[in-house]
Amino acid sequence: MSYHPPEPFRIKMVESIRLIDKNARQRAIEAAGYNLFGLRGEDIYIDLLTDSGTGAMSQEQWSALMRGDESYAGARSYFRLAEAVKEIFGFRYFVPTHQGRAAEHILSLLLAKPGQFVPSNMHFDTTDANIRARGAHPANLVIDEAFDPSNRHPFKGNLDLQKLECFIQEKSVENIPFGMITITNNAGGGQPVSLENIRNVAATYRKHGIPFFIDACRYAENTYFIKLREPGYSEKNTLEIAQEIFSLADGATFSAKKDALVNIGGLLAMNDERLYQRTCNELILREGFPTYGGLAGRDLDAIATGLREGLEVDYLDYRLGQTAYLAERLLESGIPVIEPPGGHAVYVDAGRFLSHLPQSHFPGQSLAVELYLEGGVRAVEIGSVMFAHPDPQTGEMLYPQLELVRLAIPRRVYTQSHLDYVVATLQKIATRKGSLPGYRIVSAPELLRHFTAHFEPLVGT
Ligand code: F0G
Repeated sequence: MSYHPPEPFRIKMVESIRLIDKNARQRAIEAAGYNLFGLRGEDIYIDLLTDSGTGAMSQEQWSALMRGDESYAGARSYFRLAEAVKEIFGFRYFVPTHQGRAAEHILSLLLAKPGQFVPSNMHFDTTDANIRARGAHPANLVIDEAFDPSNRHPFKGNLDLQKLECFIQEKSVENIPFGMITITNNAGGGQPVSLENIRNVAATYRKHGIPFFIDACRYAENTYFIKLREPGYSEKNTLEIAQEIFSLADGATFSAKKDALVNIGGLLAMNDERLYQRTCNELILREGFPTYGGLAGRDLDAIATGLREGLEVDYLDYRLGQTAYLAERLLESGIPVIEPPGGHAVYVDAGRFLSHLPQSHFPGQSLAVELYLEGGVRAVEIGSVMFAHPDPQTGEMLYPQLELVRLAIPRRVYTQSHLDYVVATLQKIATRKGSLPGYRIVSAPELLRHFTAHFEPLVGT
């Protein structure tokens, strides 16, 4: 039933990986305080921590690097990037940034004021943190289907228009400096947003005079979902779909580390000239001159080439097919995952898989640690470690709706046999899942604790 599409490339350069033995894995994870972010790369066999900046570049991209023009201002590389950005995104202005969160930082700094609100389907955690850092409040208004792991809604990343209209009425327009939508919705399972939904969201924001920015990190994967699933789009090519999406917005933040197939880089794009000028001032303070923005000339060239490759149909067909293959094989093995499979990752429903562990014992963390111990596979917890927090009023602990472990697939890096190995590792864990321990946090910082918290297994839970 599950089908893995043949890779639309052959391999010209290889990087060795090795599985260290079980005792060494146990020592490594203990030394890391049972936090997967604390492991050394060399101690990991299959690294599914993130699809961000972990992809393999093509021979065209490596060639583009060699053409990089390192002029401080007005480099040829900048103009080659500007051409690709103009063609795909179409906004009047853009600046390069060193990665996506730098674009989010500048946008939030310039537009959001303390006490204001920024709606989206779901903000990614860096966007959320950048809005909070300005004293403003991010709001997630995704459709309810997003929280039902087995609901196969084709566009589970859609923003709920009724929730948005009520939200705008309740908070009032002058308290909403801008609105967003994340495509695909990473925090909600890498699920796509339909063009119809983006059109309606844009119309709602426009009606109220609220500037609309798209978090476009995985826009290319989203275009292919639209082509496959949305009536009226099967004959359109992915570039046309991207152009239609961006024509509906006032700007975009973008991490080139995802769908531009590079290891570093980002963009902030907009139509508003005054905002562009203010952006350039901020960029010069923190990132760099507006024609390089925190990157080398060669990085700009690699992004320009990668942006076009990211929209190729053969590549996207393989990319989404690979994710679907992993998800379907896990489902066949009785391992619960978010359905339907998203674009860049498979999300294991650890809350359901390890139903003997309460949320306060971090089932997602338990599964992520076990994946490493059993098979040297690194994944990331997206559950209570990342999101649980005390209610500011009552102090009572608030837990997220889902306890997930994300298996993010780096682009053009792993083959079918690597994914089969990941499935086999999870199958082995499934046979003794009832014995997996819960965890407790031994030490943690106040912000973004998932990066550095230390844990301890709770023996006997
Ligand atoms: N928005 C989304 C939807 C993201 O997934 C990310 C990064 C960012 C913004 C920030 O971009 O890392 O270039 O600063 N996501 C990575 C991940 C880190 O693992 O999902 P960045």
